[in-house]
Amino acid sequence: MSLPNHAITLLNSGVSHNNRAAQIAAELQQRISGMRTGERLPGARQLATEFRASAGTISSALATLTALGLILTEPGRGTFVASRAVLAEPDFTWQTPVLGRTRVDPERASRVGAYAGSDHIPLSWGYLSAELLPTEELRQIGARAARSSRAWVMTPPTGSAELRRLLSADYQAEPSDVLVVAGGQQGLVFAMRTLAEPGDTIIMESPTYPGAIIAAQSAGLAIKAVPSDGDGILVDRLRDELERTRARSIYLQPNYANPTGAVLSPERRTQVLELAARAGAFIVEDDWARHLGIESSAPAPLFTQDPHGHVVSVLTLSKPASPGIRLGAVIARGPAGDRLRASRTADDLGVSPIVQEIALELLTSPVWPRHLKRLRSALAHRRDALAFAIASSLPAARVPHVPRGGLHLWAQLPHGTDTREFSAAAHSAGVLVGDGRHFFVDEPPSPFLRLSFGAATEPQIAEGVRRLAALSPTTLRS
Ligand SMILES: Cc1ncc(COP(=O)(O)O)c(C=O)c1O
Repeated sequence: MSLPNHAITLLNSGVSHNNRAAQIAAELQQRISGMRTGERLPGARQLATEFRASAGTISSALATLTALGLILTEPGRGTFVASRAVLAEPDFTWQTPVLGRTRVDPERASRVGAYAGSDHIPLSWGYLSAELLPTEELRQIGARAARSSRAWVMTPPTGSAELRRLLSADYQAEPSDVLVVAGGQQGLVFAMRTLAEPGDTIIMESPTYPGAIIAAQSAGLAIKAVPSDGDGILVDRLRDELERTRARSIYLQPNYANPTGAVLSPERRTQVLELAARAGAFIVEDDWARHLGIESSAPAPLFTQDPHGHVVSVLTLSKPASPGIRLGAVIARGPAGDRLRASRTADDLGVSPIVQEIALELLTSPVWPRHLKRLRSALAHRRDALAFAIASSLPAARVPHVPRGGLHLWAQLPHGTDTREFSAAAHSAGVLVGDGRHFFVDEPPSPFLRLSFGAATEPQIAEGVRRLAALSPTTLRS
């Protein structure tokens, strides 16, 4: 008789706190695997003698095996090996034709949020390294939050009233416009799914965040890419595409766009809002880098320039506080906001109250402004270190502009460079880089790499770029 995996794991991890009982249960489990269904186990007294254990320990071991469904005890008769349905070898061939075409591109999806691990230098990652995060403060706040009664009651699905009030401030929104969600990625999916119907078109600046591409795919939207430059999306191209596709939603990162670092210029902000108004379109404003301004604070959200509810903003605390906090918000006015908040209960009934409590405490603590100040200076050093290392050691990679905030540099490689091959070679050399292909909806116009400065220390940055420079010239043609 073979055991299900969960049974083996439970036994190995010592499901009972009594180690001896867990040990006996593991030995009996071995024995049972060679027995037939219905076969009788020795009585408890005999087992106690055999294992030189107390009756209590044997009873605890048998209870473990019973809980795992491996044995059953019939009072007055004894303990028997339980019958177990033996499943045939799995055959999943039927599933794919039934499922039809996959919506979310699995290759891109496997990279969003992925992290290679501590043996790689993270020269591409969308979060901050541990020493830049307020982890010690979060530990203390987390312990206090766990003790508070507010952490263990149900909050409204839209989020705690205090947190909504706090998050509304930067957006000059009403607290009631705010929907607390489990991070920016969830916010993007909620927004895209609610503001459009499957089959509709969404326009995205290109290149863009791969997570936004898969969010749109998951919502069943067709994606049209419009190029951008250092001042954000090209407005004339956006106008043409809105007319051509009749798209009713646009995804933008107006501040320190991932991956280019572009900031939408003040002039283009006005033009984009006019275009959205004329087309009757929504703009999903991904405000992920709100706290990551380096030269200055990030420009005000597009949301603050739009009284009519065209802009729906998504913010996240994953970047400045901790990738593990998984807390963000969608901010939306008018019926769109009502729909978003109403339909969230179809997905889940809210973000865990303890996480909301931690976020609230962090944002209102004196630690927060101190942390953001320290972060700004650390990011400036790391960004400059990365730009310098590229310019001095890797001149074949051209960085069109050094961003004033965010986490990433966007480097253009010589024409003909195979970025898939280059990323694989970098990976073998212990360096994680972002293959530019994943940031384009369609074919990339040139080979690019995304290189990040938030996740690696300055020495790691220097070493990482040194290793990239040492890669074979056939991998990186200059
Ligand atoms: C541009 C952008 N938007 C949104 C997110 C989502 O982040 P999270 O779900 O961790 O809040 C990310 C994460 O990498 C990002 O880079």
